[in-house]
Amino acid sequence: MSRPKISVIGAGNVGASAAFRAAELELGDVVLVDIVEGMPQGKALDLNQMCPVSGKDVRFTGTNSYDDTANSDVVIITSGIPRKPGMSRDDLISTNTKIVKEVTEQVAKHSPNAILILVTNPLDAMVYVAHKVSGFPRERVMGMAGVLDSARFRTFISMELDVSVENIHAFVLGGHGDSMVPLARYTTVAGIPIPDLISQDRIESLIDRTRKGGAEIVGLLKTGSAFYAPGVSAVEMAESILRDKRKILPCCVLADGEFGIENTFVGLPVKLGTNGVEEIIKIELTDKEKEELHISAGQVKELCDLIDGMGIV
Ligand code: NAI
Ligand code: 2OP
Repeated sequence: MSRPKISVIGAGNVGASAAFRAAELELGDVVLVDIVEGMPQGKALDLNQMCPVSGKDVRFTGTNSYDDTANSDVVIITSGIPRKPGMSRDDLISTNTKIVKEVTEQVAKHSPNAILILVTNPLDAMVYVAHKVSGFPRERVMGMAGVLDSARFRTFISMELDVSVENIHAFVLGGHGDSMVPLARYTTVAGIPIPDLISQDRIESLIDRTRKGGAEIVGLLKTGSAFYAPGVSAVEMAESILRDKRKILPCCVLADGEFGIENTFVGLPVKLGTNGVEEIIKIELTDKEKEELHISAGQVKELCDLIDGMGIV
C-alpha cells in the first residue's frame, strides 16, 4: 500500500512549516512546489536528511513542475505574497487571485480527485477562487483560518489562566479578518465555559488580541507574517482528512444556507474526514453572534464580488 501523497504549493515560510509538520506526523510523502528554481528542491533535500534523525519514513520531493504532484490526495496551497507592515490582507487580493488561479488550474488538472486546503490570503476569497477555477464540489475545497485564529484565542486564554493549552477548546468562526467571530460561550477550559472563569472585560480584551493576532506578528517580524502556527494548523486539517479522524474544526467552507448564509465562503464548524467536508455542524447562536457572523460573511462576499469585477477568474 502506498503512502498518502500531500502536495504543498508555495515552499515559503508556511509551506515549509507545513511540510515539516507533515513529517513529524508521518502523514505521507510530500511534494513541495514553488516557482523559484532550486529552492523547493533544496528544502526537500534538507527535509529528507532530517528524517533519519527524527525516525520518520516520509519522502520529500522539491520541484517546479506539477507533473510531480500528480494524483495527490491533499493539496495545501500557500503560494502567494504575504502581508507586509501596514498592508491589510485585502491589499493582497489582485496578486494572489492571479497566483491562486494559475496554481489551481494546474492542481486540478494533475490531481482531479484531490482535496484542496487553501492558506493564501485574503483567505476566504482565495477559497472562492480555487472553488470556481477547480470546479471541485464544495466538500473538496476549503480554507485554513479558523484553526489558527482559535489556536491564538486558546493561547491567550492559557496565558490568562495559567492552564495547559490542552485543556482549552475554542471556536472562532467567520472570515479571516478583523470581523472574525470568536465564540466565548463555546470556548471551554476543561469543559468549563470561559465566561464562568474570566471576567467579561478580560474576555473582550483576549478577543481583541485574537482578532489582531496576525497583525501583531506582522508588526514584530516586519518582513512577513506568521508561519509556524499557520503551517501546523493546515496540517491538522490534512491529518483529519487523511486519517479520517472526523475532527470538528472551524474551516472556511461554502455556506449553502447554513446559519442563514447563502452561497458565501466563511468559517464554520466542519467535520473533516476522508471525503473532506463530511458535515457542517449546526450550533445555536445568539442574535448578536448571528449578526456578527452575517457581517463577516458580507465582507467576504464584497471581496468575492470585487474579484468577479476584476475579470481574472
Ligand atoms: P512566503 O513568501 O514565505 O511563501 C510564499 C511562496 O509562494 C514563495 O516561496 C513564492 O515563491 C511562492 N509562489 C509565489 N507565486 C507562486 C506560484 N505562482 N506558484 C508556486 N509558488 C509561488 O509567504 P508565507 O509566509 O508562506 O505566506 C504564504 C501565504 O499564506 C500568504 O498569502 C499569507 O498571507 C498567507 N497566510 C495565511 C494564513 C491563514 O491563516 N490563512 C496564515 C499565514 C499566512
Ligand atoms: C495571519 O493571520 C497573516 O493571515 C495571516 O497570521
